[in-house]
Amino acid sequence: MQRRKLIAGNWKMNGTGQSLGFFDEIRQASEANPGVDILIAPPATLIHRAAARAGRVLLAGQDCHAQTSGAHTGDLSADMIREAGASHVIIGHSERRADHGETSETVRAKALAAQAAGLIPIICVGESEDDRRAGREQAIVGDQLEHSLPAEGEFIIAYEPVWAIGTGLTASESDIASMHAFIRGQLANGPARLVLYGGSVKPGNAAGILQLADVDGALVGGASLKASDFSAIISAAGKFVNHAE
Ligand code: PGA
Repeated sequence: MQRRKLIAGNWKMNGTGQSLGFFDEIRQASEANPGVDILIAPPATLIHRAAARAGRVLLAGQDCHAQTSGAHTGDLSADMIREAGASHVIIGHSERRADHGETSETVRAKALAAQAAGLIPIICVGESEDDRRAGREQAIVGDQLEHSLPAEGEFIIAYEPVWAIGTGLTASESDIASMHAFIRGQLANGPARLVLYGGSVKPGNAAGILQLADVDGALVGGASLKASDFSAIISAAGKFVNHAE
């Protein structure tokens, strides 16, 4: 039996007030799997209302600004995300790296801002399809880790191969195992960190991925929008943790 697993859902730019029934719909899976930590990153507009419904489900922002305040129209500070009711924030998702030109240096600055505000950053890394074809995946992820991670403090890593996000393609279990072992090796000198896998995690493949020793959980996009799918992934994680913990 392993230690706890974390199943995190990233709603991306999906969800309105009507979506909040989700928290009631996953309650059964949540109660049946106490060894699984559960987190949802709704759009920031819903965090405050979700906090009233979430029970033991943790809440996260999907991004925050590196500054604490100022003339940054449309952005949200880490303090704002925290005050709305979040305990975590996703930083450096590949969609932010691609759509908003975020570099690993930006990601690190945001992660530090998150920590300063009392949030735990979930820092995303992952190679593109071209990188993997060229056999550069470890070099790319290694570089992202080197430049994105804070030197200290709490953080979580999500390994999300860009080509597997939203595509229905998942990395093979052996590719995931070897990348997670590589990431673990890069972190070997520091405290233990959670390392999640993300990229088309679904009810049908979750158990195979979550049984891997170096996979501490999953960051789930599409399948976190449907309570029945997300519940099935929580239950899959529950098989690999000690319920007595
Ligand atoms: P997906 O998204 O599960 O829809 O592939 C994962 C993510 O972007 O975190």
